[in-house]
Amino acid sequence: MNIRLTMLTAACALALAGCADKSAPTAEPEAAPPATETAPAPAEAPAAATPEVAADVKAAVVADCSTEIQGNDAMQFNVNSITVPASCTDFTIKLTHSGTMPVAAMGHNVVITTQADMATVAADGIPAGVASDYIKAGDTRVIAHTKLIGGGENASVTFPVAKIKDGGPYEFFCSFPGHSAVMKGTIAVL
Ligand code: CO
Repeated sequence: MNIRLTMLTAACALALAGCADKSAPTAEPEAAPPATETAPAPAEAPAAATPEVAADVKAAVVADCSTEIQGNDAMQFNVNSITVPASCTDFTIKLTHSGTMPVAAMGHNVVITTQADMATVAADGIPAGVASDYIKAGDTRVIAHTKLIGGGENASVTFPVAKIKDGGPYEFFCSFPGHSAVMKGTIAVL
């Protein structure tokens, strides 16, 4: 076995050497680098991105430049993606709290900021307290927000679509302390 393998290897090496000698010097360097550079990137990118996005997206139903979303007693929104039609001038988000817990224990609102501002806006809103919807007074990073509601209540907010057309990505989230870790989603104009 070892001898046969060695002979085969030697034969292959000779064959390869023969090929390399005959082929033009420019042919191999040109062919090799593109193959190693381009092959891994396209193969990995679609494979990783497509299943993740498809499996996790819970898209809000949008009609007449408006959508209705729900928050519950389990600290969840029922959607994590809102697509705003570019044809809309204004957009309305109606929030319903489908649970029964009071606002002080399980309050929900919808706050829109850039993705980059979300964490700091949520943190800065905590000292404001429940009476201020857990939003810092005069926080200009807040693009739009509903009031904070408890179980069985509703709230809505209407804002100009132009405010989220450029400069994103943007997120919507609940600013009740701790909720933005899970109660969040993307909002984009398409
Ligand atoms: Co909440």
